[in-house]
Amino acid sequence: MPGIHDSSLKDSRAGRIVIAYSGGLDTSVAVPWLAERYGAEIVAVTMDLGQGAELEEVRDRALASGAIRAHVLDVREEFARDFVLRALKADALYEDQYPLATALARPLIAQKLIEIAEIEQATAVAHGCSGKGNDQVRLEVTARALNSGIRIIAPAREWGMTRADEIEYARQRNVPVPATVESPYSTDFNLWGRAVDCGALEDPWHEPPEDIYTLTKSPRECPDEPAYVEVSFERGVPTAINGVAMPMLDLIASLGTIAGANGVGRIDLIENRLVGIKSREVYEAPAAVVLHAAHEELQRLVTTADLDRLCRDISQKYADLVYNGLWFTPTREAMDAFVDKVQERVTGVIRLKLFKGDCRIVGRKSPFGLYDQSLATHDAGDMFDHAATAGFIKIWGLPVESTAKKAPKKRKSLVVSR
Ligand code: ARG
Repeated sequence: MPGIHDSSLKDSRAGRIVIAYSGGLDTSVAVPWLAERYGAEIVAVTMDLGQGAELEEVRDRALASGAIRAHVLDVREEFARDFVLRALKADALYEDQYPLATALARPLIAQKLIEIAEIEQATAVAHGCSGKGNDQVRLEVTARALNSGIRIIAPAREWGMTRADEIEYARQRNVPVPATVESPYSTDFNLWGRAVDCGALEDPWHEPPEDIYTLTKSPRECPDEPAYVEVSFERGVPTAINGVAMPMLDLIASLGTIAGANGVGRIDLIENRLVGIKSREVYEAPAAVVLHAAHEELQRLVTTADLDRLCRDISQKYADLVYNGLWFTPTREAMDAFVDKVQERVTGVIRLKLFKGDCRIVGRKSPFGLYDQSLATHDAGDMFDHAATAGFIKIWGLPVESTAKKAPKKRKSLVVSR
C-alpha cells in the first residue's frame, strides 16, 4: 500500500528528508521541490570523492536552494581503501574495460546518506538520478540493504520536468542555477575516473570530440619520448611508484597525472546497462587503467594456470556485481575473501611504458613469480625434461586418438554442391 507511506510523510510537517546533493541542476531543483511536495525540512549531504569541486561553494548552494543544513563529508580515504582497492585486487573491469568509478562510489554515497539520515532522524532519503540509469538502482538497493525503514524518494524520476522546466522552476524560486547547465554532456567524476555521456556522444558513430577530455592529453599532444613507471605491489595493494612509497590516494593522483600526460586512460564503450539498454559512455581513468594493467600482470605471474582462469571468472562476476548495485551482499564478501587469499602472493614490481595513449607492460618481477627461466629457456642451462614429454603426449592424446578412430562416417548427402 504505497499510498499510506506517501500521505503520512506529506502530512507530517516535521518530516525531514536527507538528499545526496551534488550541486548540479537536478539536486538543486530537488531541494525546493521536495520541501514543497512533502512539506519537509531538507538536509543536504555532499561527499568529497576526489571530484575536485569546490565543496564549500556546493554547501553554500545547498543552503541557498533552501536546505536547512548541509553536511560535507570527505570520504576519499574510505572510498579508495574500502571500494576502489577491492575492485582493483579483484581486477574488476565491467565488460572488460570500464573501471567502475561511478558504480563503486554509489554504495558509499548511499551508506553515508543513510548514516546522516539516522543522525538527523529523517524519514526519507532522496537522490537526483533520473529513471534511465544504473545509479538509481545502486543507491536504492544499497539504502534498502542498510536501513529498509527509511523511505527513498527520486524526485527527478517523478517530476516529469524537462531541463528547461527545471531551469524555469529554479529561477522562480531564486535557486542558483549551476554553470554546468550550459554543457551538453552529463558527467560524473571521482578519484577513480570520469564518465561522460549525452550530447554528441549519443551517436555511436561520432568520434568523441577532444574537448570532453579533462584528465588525458590527446596522443597528438603527448611527449615524443615514452614515460616509464614502475608500480610496486604488496599483497595486491599498490604501494610505490618508481620506488617512492605513497599512500593510495597520492599514488592514484600521481599515476593519474603521469598517465594522463601520456594520453593513457581513454575508454569509448558501448555498454550494457542494468536497465536493459545499451549506452555509449566515454571514460577517462588514467590511474585506473595503469593500475589494473599492472595488477593483472603481476597476479598472472604468481598464479598457476588454473587459479589464473578462476580469478578471471571471479573478475567478471565481481565487475557485474558492482555494476549492478549488489555491493552490500554476502556474495561480494565471499568474493573478497577469495580475492584476498590470492593476494597473499601478489607482491612485486611491474614496469610499464606509457606512450601517446598506449600503456604497455615491459617488465615484471616478484619473489613469488612462477616464471622459471631455467625451465623456459631455449639456451644453455635448460633444466626442462624434454624426454619426459614423449610419455606425457602419449597419455594426453589418448582420448583424442580413440575418439578419432571411432568417428562416424561423413554423409555425402550433407555436402553442398555448387
Ligand atoms: N555508465 C556508467 C555507470 O553506470 C557511468 C554513469 C555516469 N555517467 C554520467 N555521464 N553521468 O557506472
